[in-house]
Amino acid sequence: MKPAVLVARAVFPAVLDKLALHFDIVSNQDDVLWSPAQLITKLQDKVGVFCTGSERIDATLLAACPDLKICSNMAVGFNNFDLPAMSAQGVLGTNTPDVLTETTADFGFALLLATARRLSESEHFLRSGQWNRWRYDMFAGSEVHGSTLGILGMGRIGQAIAKRAAHGFGMCVIYHNRSRLDMATESVCKATWVSKAELLKRCDHLMLVLPYSAQAHHAVGALELTQMKPTATLVNIARGGIVDDAALAQALRHGVIAAAGLDVFEGEPAVHPELLSLSNVVLTPHIASATIKTRLAMAHLAADNLIAYLTEGTALTPLNEKLLKF
Ligand code: GLV
Repeated sequence: MKPAVLVARAVFPAVLDKLALHFDIVSNQDDVLWSPAQLITKLQDKVGVFCTGSERIDATLLAACPDLKICSNMAVGFNNFDLPAMSAQGVLGTNTPDVLTETTADFGFALLLATARRLSESEHFLRSGQWNRWRYDMFAGSEVHGSTLGILGMGRIGQAIAKRAAHGFGMCVIYHNRSRLDMATESVCKATWVSKAELLKRCDHLMLVLPYSAQAHHAVGALELTQMKPTATLVNIARGGIVDDAALAQALRHGVIAAAGLDVFEGEPAVHPELLSLSNVVLTPHIASATIKTRLAMAHLAADNLIAYLTEGTALTPLNEKLLKF
């Protein structure tokens, strides 16, 4: 008998076929959003789960699913995992780093350009039939090329954005990260480390690319927003909860900063209603890694992690391998 694995969300059929070569699969191609209790029920007798950032793997679920050995996230972020609880229970977590870096950086740039150049707002204006003449200041936005980009969080995606900014757009790139990059990487990225306060004060555009953690919760809130230029834009492609969305909505409404581009939200898929009512914010539904090629690569890597761990005992991109307590 093959080991039993749950595929908790809809996925490319080719990836299901690949998993079915090794496992007895229960899949969810109708993409029903299961409650935590339903997920626990579906996980009974399963040794592995293919999941996404939407499925919370916590101590309650782990205690109720004693057969589980691996949770394979089709995402680079893993704040849906309670990793200490998983380690204590001997459950491996895996994610999908690297394969989405460049695609996500492209999207960060798309959102930056759309926000600074008022793309959504002007398109809505045109579609709603309001465009009846050219005007010297119509949808005049802020400059991207040659301006100063601040990057908060400087991992793989932050570095890929820095390279686009410095080499493609002639931007001055400053960044803040807990640990400073080595000099060689800073030089390739043409990026300079500054304190968080200096980052907020100096940047024309602020890009958030840090992973979510309890320390990163509301890393940008009312206080931080007041430290930014009133002409500044903010782009969040990191995680909901890193920005205080209610404070951001107030700041956008009152001109504390000029505009924002958001791909992630606190409590998504719900979006703060104040944000929905503002025209100076570009809103996208968590799609930064969404190209077919990249989503396929992520899905295959998540599947390969399950196959490698459950057939050979070693995953390709483990998160807590060294911490597992059996
Ligand atoms: C998407 O948000 C991811 O973490 O891959």
